[in-house]
Amino acid sequence: MKQIIFSAAVVACCCAACTSVAELSSPDGRNTISFDAATMTYAVLRDGDTLIRPSALGIETREAQFADFEVARVRRASADETWTQPWGENKTMRDRHNEMAVEMRSADGRVRLTLRFRAFDDGVGFRYEWQVPDADSLTVTAEKTEFRFAADGDSWTIPASFETYELLYRKLPLAELTDANTPATFRVGDVYGSIHEAALYDYPEMTLRKTGELAFASELAPLPDGTKARVPGSFVTPWRTIQLGDRAVDLINSSLILNLNEPSKIEDTSWIRPMKYVGVWWGMHLGIESWSMDDRHGATTENAKRYIDFAAANNIQGVLFEGWNEGWESWGGRQAFDFTKPYADFDVAEIVRYARERGIEVINHHETGGNIPNYERQLEHALAWSAEQGMRNLKTGYAGGFPDGYLHHSQYGVRHYQKVVEAAAAHRITVNAHEPIKDCGIRRTWPNMMAREGARGKEWDAWSAGNPPSHEVMLPFTRLLGGPMDFTPGTFDILYERTRRSPRRKLWNCGPEVEMRVNTTLAKQIAEWVIIYSPLQMASDLIENYEGHPAFRFFRDFDADCDWSRALAGEPGEFVAVVRRAGGNFFLGAATNEEARTLTLPLDFLEQGTTYRATIYADGPDADWKSNPTSYVITERDVTAADTLEVAMAPGGGQAVTFMPSEK
Ligand code: NOJ
Ligand code: CA
Repeated sequence: MKQIIFSAAVVACCCAACTSVAELSSPDGRNTISFDAATMTYAVLRDGDTLIRPSALGIETREAQFADFEVARVRRASADETWTQPWGENKTMRDRHNEMAVEMRSADGRVRLTLRFRAFDDGVGFRYEWQVPDADSLTVTAEKTEFRFAADGDSWTIPASFETYELLYRKLPLAELTDANTPATFRVGDVYGSIHEAALYDYPEMTLRKTGELAFASELAPLPDGTKARVPGSFVTPWRTIQLGDRAVDLINSSLILNLNEPSKIEDTSWIRPMKYVGVWWGMHLGIESWSMDDRHGATTENAKRYIDFAAANNIQGVLFEGWNEGWESWGGRQAFDFTKPYADFDVAEIVRYARERGIEVINHHETGGNIPNYERQLEHALAWSAEQGMRNLKTGYAGGFPDGYLHHSQYGVRHYQKVVEAAAAHRITVNAHEPIKDCGIRRTWPNMMAREGARGKEWDAWSAGNPPSHEVMLPFTRLLGGPMDFTPGTFDILYERTRRSPRRKLWNCGPEVEMRVNTTLAKQIAEWVIIYSPLQMASDLIENYEGHPAFRFFRDFDADCDWSRALAGEPGEFVAVVRRAGGNFFLGAATNEEARTLTLPLDFLEQGTTYRATIYADGPDADWKSNPTSYVITERDVTAADTLEVAMAPGGGQAVTFMPSEK
């Protein structure tokens, strides 16, 4: 079904007698965004109540005055379209919205500015589109977009930073929030919402800074000279978005961010496939292997084959190798990585041949250390070489500062990350970026942009006090609203017992006083494969910790290529339950923070009339993340859509369930 209706109702609005206010409501009438041209402000109402009181809009540039605007006309349109994507939480999406484009001219006639507003049932978005015909380029010095809340409420955010998103989340009253990165999730009264952006290209990321009582303004990541962006005279900014819902899980189920991105620019997407993977990775973080070629080198031909054999035996499609290329000795120093020179003990041709014979993809890795000039110099050649070798999936990394005072999240960074995505697409290579720019839904337009990091991932558990039990039940309501995350769940050796015994272990990146472990139960680790959506889902532990483990059956059965998803229940940082369908099978994941909890979940998402064999991976009756993290039980039973499941979770625990049609 594809149906688009554009009604071009044009309202002239420039006479003194006209009201200066134009309003737009969502198709269900519940969300309204209004724009007042006289004050250059917008406001947002939910069910008729003001949620965002009049808040400034505006852009400042060095070359042109974005001021004294007169409205030339207001164009209105509506759309109702169903579209599909090659992979995603949901393969079929519906974009139903109303649109209002307010076309304005500055009094001096130099600037034409259109404010484009869209109202969806799951939120609102707006962006600036300008033309300054007599300017080739403009220097943006500030964006004045504000978000002024009408009442206090709760917020769940990480602090604003132009260099990293790998920070701990905090719950704060809006009145106490001083700065935040987006997605910035909030609850005001009965309304859940999240401020973010969509379609971020050639522009710095937006953070939020407190400017007054319950008031926040957009603060853009600066360039080294303090300006924010250098853009063409004609330019369209990213969308500023506010997702809205009645329940916290409505935010997870919202498709607003993807709907505000453009359709795919890659015509043939048949080469882009979700996958499960393992990798030579965790050993380095734990300190029992190394990235560099020394006596602890992880990425050796022998180890590679061991991982490939394991993947082939366990219904896993990919294997990642980090530390395969020359340059790791310079990590943290000159950052002089070479992306086409394998270490002498890593025989790429042999490894790819071995993998291909077993139906396994080799995942390449480019750690740049933040040395963008070094990477961009090699990029084209490195991608061509990678494709030639048969490595068509690429994990990138930016662990290190950018040179010359450039910040990760500035326009410079946004341009670089995009350049890599487009260059990779030209070579039919998929990208999984670590230390990335934030996810604003560009995967719709560039479906080879698979997953990214952009929050504290599993690695923090290896060399710090680790992520608290609330972290993984916070991510779905915050970071993941932007898009998929390569969190890399799945530690089975939760207390690092095997690692502690290893004479090879050398602590790194942490103080020896830190008593490392994962703050979880085993069942929660399994549930995270479902909860933390990624088209590239990693079982990140050492494979020896999975070999022969009865609970690893879940990952063998799991399918990263899902067709449909639904968040069923949850509250930010407290608990969450998510179900996904892949083909005829369903996978359910539920998790909780430090508190034990039992959820009662109707199974009405299952196909009516089908009996399913449910395999339940639950916390043991005596499980507790702190004192007894590895206690689990696996049970099986037949269920139908008419049944209800009691999901009992230990403190810091979780539960995962596979539902497969029973054989008749
Ligand atoms: C940080 C990344 O997040 C991690 O996955 C990677 O192993 C290291 N950098 C080294 O590249
Ligand atoms: Ca990282």
